[in-house]
Amino acid sequence: MRIEPAAAVRGHIALPGDKSLSHRAVLLAAVGEGETRISGFGRSEDTEATIKAVRDLGVRVYEADPETLRVFGAGLRGLKPPKQPVDCGNAGTLMRLLPGLLAGQEGRFELTGDESLRSRPMERIAEPLRLMAATVETTDGRAPFTVEGGALRPITYELPVASAQVKSAVLLAGLYAEGGETTVEEPLPTRDHTENLLAQAGARVTRRASSVSVAPAERLELGELEIPGDFSSAAPFIVAATLLAGSELTIHGVNLNPRRTGLLGVLERMGANVTVFNRRRIGGEPAGDLDVRPSEVVGATIGAGEVPLLVDELPLFALLAVHAHGDSALRGAAELRAKESDRIEAVVDGLRSLGGHIRATPDGFTVRGVPSRIRGGGTFDSRGDHRIAILGAITGLVSREGVEVVGPEAAAVSFPGFYDLLDSLRAPI
Ligand code: S3P
Repeated sequence: MRIEPAAAVRGHIALPGDKSLSHRAVLLAAVGEGETRISGFGRSEDTEATIKAVRDLGVRVYEADPETLRVFGAGLRGLKPPKQPVDCGNAGTLMRLLPGLLAGQEGRFELTGDESLRSRPMERIAEPLRLMAATVETTDGRAPFTVEGGALRPITYELPVASAQVKSAVLLAGLYAEGGETTVEEPLPTRDHTENLLAQAGARVTRRASSVSVAPAERLELGELEIPGDFSSAAPFIVAATLLAGSELTIHGVNLNPRRTGLLGVLERMGANVTVFNRRRIGGEPAGDLDVRPSEVVGATIGAGEVPLLVDELPLFALLAVHAHGDSALRGAAELRAKESDRIEAVVDGLRSLGGHIRATPDGFTVRGVPSRIRGGGTFDSRGDHRIAILGAITGLVSREGVEVVGPEAAAVSFPGFYDLLDSLRAPI
C-alpha cells in the first residue's frame, strides 16, 4: 500500500477501545457470574480471537453492535475443554492470560496460534503456573502447549522479565489457589489493567509499590464496563501531528493510565506540544482528551526503567528520533525482539532504508537525528506485525517521497480502521 506524504493532519478523532482492556474484559466476564455488558469494545483481529476463544470454551457472547458485547459468564470454574485446540491467532495477550484461568478448570486444554505467535516464548508463563501445581507442556518453550489444571497452590513470584502478560497469568491463576494469597513482585511497574479489573469484579487485590497480591475468589462480577480509547492507537496520530507543521489534532476519550502513557513523558522531554484536558475516569481507568500541535523535537534517551511504560510505542519513538535535533538512544529494550516481530530489526531496517540514521544495538537502537523530512521513496516491510505496518504508514506520511508499506493488512490485528482514519485526517501537500 502506497502512503503519500501529507502536509498536515487535522481533525477530531476518537480511537477504538483499548486492546489490553478489551481482552481482559472478555476473559474476566467469561468466568464471571451472569451477564457482563462491555461498551467501547475495541474490535480487532486480536480481540475477536478472544471472543472466539471464550465461545469455544462454552461461554455465550452476544454482539449487540460492533462495540457492545453481552457476555454470559460460565462462572469461575465453568470453562470446558473444546474438541479442537484454542486458536489465539496473533494475540499474545490472549495466549498468555488465558492459561491463568485454564489452570483453575477441570480438564486439559490445548492452545495454538499463528506462525508469529508460535515462535514467541511461552515458558515465561508455563514456569510460574507449574510452580502453582498446574501441568503445562510446551513445544520447545513455545505454542502449541497444553494446560491441565487442578488444585492450585498460592505462590510468591518474582517476575524475571517486566511483563504485564506474565504478571496477569499468575494473578488470574491466583484466583484459584486455595490457602493464601498469590503475589507477583515486579522489577519495574508494568500496565496494571488486570489488577484494576479484578478489583472492580470483586476480587481481593492488594497493591504495594512493587508487588501485587490476589486472594482466592468465590465469584467475579463485572456488571457493566465501558472501555476508553486505546492510547497505543492514538500514538501514531500524536507522532504524525507532532512532526507535520500545520497539524491540528484533537483526540477524545483516550486511556491515560500512567503505566501506558510513557510516550507522553518522552514527547515532553523532546519538546513536543501535547496538552491533556478534560481528565476523567472511563471504566475505572484515568482518561482524557489530547490536543496535539506540531513542534520541532530534540533527541532523547530512554532507559530500561521507562521501557514498560511505552513498550508498544517504541517503534514510533524511533521515527521521532530520526527527525529530532541531536542524538537519541533506546536501551534496555531487548524484549522488543520477542514481540510480534523482532521490532528492533524491523524498525531499524525499515527506517534506515528510507534515509534514517539509525543503528540497532542488542537491546535497542541509537539514532542521529536530522530535523527535516525523512527521504522515503522505498518500502517498509511490516513483517506481519501490526505496530510495524502502522509505523511504515506514518513514515510515509511524514516523508518527502512517500513509502510503500509491504504487508499493510497487519494493521488490522489491533486497528482495522487505521488507514481510513489516517486518510480522513490528511491535508494534501
Ligand atoms: C500487553 C503487555 C505487553 C504489550 C502487549 C500487551 C498486555 O506485553 O507489549 O502488546 O495487554 O498485557 P508484555 O507484558 O509481554 O511486555
